[in-house]
Amino acid sequence: MKFQTNRFRALAAAMLCFSAVTATAQTYPDRPITMMMPYAPGGPGDTITRVFAGAMQKQLGQQIVVDNTAGASGSIGTAKVARAKPDGYTLLMIHVSHATNTAMYKNLSYHPVDDFDPIGRATNGPMVIVTRNDFPAKDLNEFVSYLKANGPKISLAHAGVGSASHLCGLMMMSALNVKLNEIPYKGTGPALTDLMGGQVDVLCDQTSGTVPPVKAGKIKAYAAAGKSRLSGLPDVPAITEAGVQGLDINISFGLYAPKGVPKPVMDQLTLALQKSVADPDVRQRLDSMGISAVNPDQARPEALRAHLKYEIDTLGSLLTKAGVKAN
Ligand code: MLT
Repeated sequence: MKFQTNRFRALAAAMLCFSAVTATAQTYPDRPITMMMPYAPGGPGDTITRVFAGAMQKQLGQQIVVDNTAGASGSIGTAKVARAKPDGYTLLMIHVSHATNTAMYKNLSYHPVDDFDPIGRATNGPMVIVTRNDFPAKDLNEFVSYLKANGPKISLAHAGVGSASHLCGLMMMSALNVKLNEIPYKGTGPALTDLMGGQVDVLCDQTSGTVPPVKAGKIKAYAAAGKSRLSGLPDVPAITEAGVQGLDINISFGLYAPKGVPKPVMDQLTLALQKSVADPDVRQRLDSMGISAVNPDQARPEALRAHLKYEIDTLGSLLTKAGVKAN
């Protein structure tokens, strides 16, 4: 008899849980959603996040509020999402630092895979090496020579150890065999402000924030950080044109939720992301910044899970080999 009672209780509990999840999915979303962008306002991450927050709130019919809890290369904001209730009302938009921070920070309070559920990939985008406007090099070859001759006297801004701008800076220093004086910021938005003010010398950043001030003559671009020139800056050479190898970086943003969000809610979020990457307005806005929205088949959990594994296996180990540690 006792066994029957226990089985009945277990069945009743399971049915209650199922009906609670179903009810949640049927009413989701019934209040504003927070989308974490763990870098400062004004940078490429913030720009991309706001494009998707705007597009996805149209799809979901609910306001999406961007939270820029920044610091420690995005790991502070990311930790906040890892601790959030897995109910679909707290999301994380992040890129390569979700992979690299594990290698960078010994006391990270989360694991990038175990503590998050991937929703899907969002964008891909190149990077460009820019300087203050009065940087004393007339072209890419002179820029390379000047860095090699003056390394430690030159300041390199980035968004924190393990960030995309830091990774690009590391690859550039390794490729040129120079050591620059690293200046970390909470995002490349504030870094760009100091670059335009002449307080720092060099920055490698994504194109969404750099192409407009280059075109406005506020900063100088010396090279695309890869093998190809940039659509938005066709006159700027690729770094490989100066014979520099080992600097080829592309930054991909993806959307995550804390581990444990009910599958029906995750399915709604994935569908909203897929419709957003397919949205002509989203594609045109990103394209105008030199960034590509992924195709809908990439805006899915398995694609983001595979990409994160690739970045952990490649870029995380690159930093470890370089002996880079944040704390
Ligand atoms: C970086 O990794 O450099 C960040 O994306 C910069 C930012 O978005 O502010």
